Amino acid sequence: MKIININNDFNNFKILNEKVGDILNKFPSTKTFFDKYNIDYCCNGRKVLKDTLKELNIDNQNIVNELIHDIQKACEFKSSNSDEVVKSTDFINKSSEEVIDFVINHFHEGLRKTMPEINALILKIMRAHIKHHKQLFWKIHELFCKIKDIFEGHLILEEENIFKAMIKFNNGELSKESEEYKTMIETITEAVDEHFIIGPTLKELASLTNNYSVPENSCETVKKVYSELHKLQDHILAHTQIENNILFPRYLTQN
Ligand SMILES: [Fe+2]
Ligand SMILES: [Fe+2]
Repeated sequence: MKIININNDFNNFKILNEKVGDILNKFPSTKTFFDKYNIDYCCNGRKVLKDTLKELNIDNQNIVNELIHDIQKACEFKSSNSDEVVKSTDFINKSSEEVIDFVINHFHEGLRKTMPEINALILKIMRAHIKHHKQLFWKIHELFCKIKDIFEGHLILEEENIFKAMIKFNNGELSKESEEYKTMIETITEAVDEHFIIGPTLKELASLTNNYSVPENSCETVKKVYSELHKLQDHILAHTQIENNILFPRYLTQN
């Protein structure tokens, strides 16, 4: 297998020198690629791709070509779903106030609206299919509820202890020595820890549902549940990686 020659290949050079989190931010569909090769885009999202590939001992041309192919496909892809908003927004160059506003209105309000709706749909299929799918649908419910339970408090913590303090700090109304600032930093750590619980739970849900492929002869409600859970997964991953890789580091690196 050809080893990447970074110096001789400008296209590779460009992509290899991008930070993993930035690639995912620009092209959320590359998440599948990063998951496939166990590339950590959360706590190691600030590392450049070439270093990450080297560490994993997968720095070869075929793998980079696979990523480039995914990015080309993402560029061609047009859709009207809500995640298109994420794909077309340049968060890196937005102010923290703008990012916070987007996170609350797009992600937090989105979760508050959809999670109870999805829960009601899951309860419906649990009752309707208790004879044939008890094990599968009960487990889906258990994993979904784990995510829902974490988010119920998580969203409040971020809005009350993190985002408000970030805005005050930016306006010069908060010093680094204040209790409110220290609480903000502590809560960011807590929020990132929770993201790390949510990520593997989403992976377990994807694996359990065979990447959201419905069982044979499924009814419309089961199809709806699977499709909503798949959308939820993409929504949550875009949400947490914007916080982990763009918003939170702006404050953590100031200490
Ligand atoms: Fe959030
Ligand atoms: Fe979060």
